[in-house]
Amino acid sequence: MTLLLGPPGSGKTTLLLALAGKLDSDLKVSGKVTYNGHGMNEFVAQRSAAYISQHDLHIAEMTVRETLAFSARCQGIGSRYDMLTELSRREKAANIKPDPDLDVYMKAISVGGQDTNIITDYILKILGLDICADTMVGDDMLRGISGGQRKRA
Ligand SMILES: Nc1ncnc2c1ncn2[C@@H]1O[C@H](COP(=O)(O)OP(=O)(O)O)[C@@H](O)[C@H]1O
Ligand SMILES: [Mg+2]
Repeated sequence: MTLLLGPPGSGKTTLLLALAGKLDSDLKVSGKVTYNGHGMNEFVAQRSAAYISQHDLHIAEMTVRETLAFSARCQGIGSRYDMLTELSRREKAANIKPDPDLDVYMKAISVGGQDTNIITDYILKILGLDICADTMVGDDMLRGISGGQRKRA
């Protein structure tokens, strides 16, 4: 983990946006950002990196599960499904014993089709949000999940 410190306006947000490939395209940029030696034009940075704003964008009255399910319905799950299928294939080819949780998940989606509920359960689990899945997210006025849980949500 890297802690990035600096006074307000020193460019922390700008640097993080640059690393995530999310800088405004009209900004003039100097220097070069690489991931393991690969330039930002060689791959889709948005698939490897995400910038999480310091401001929470939640609907306080929705539960964590509803929040994720809504997001899944907006974003779709196609590419992730393909990626996991490919991962499973490569694991088999390399004789790697798959992670039991992931394996159960893979079997569940192959039986149930691309059901967003299973995807939601899986995401809840890997983010450690399964224990508060049915708690309202909340905000300053409405008591909800903890600050750390909210960040993960
Ligand atoms: N899109 C932009 N166009 C012009 N100036 C910007 C833009 N984004 C940020 N800046 C300026 O860059 C500087 C660094 O901002 P920022 O990265 O938000 O700082 P920090 O996150 O460290 O507080 C600030 O002076 C800010 O006004
Ligand atoms: Mg900032």
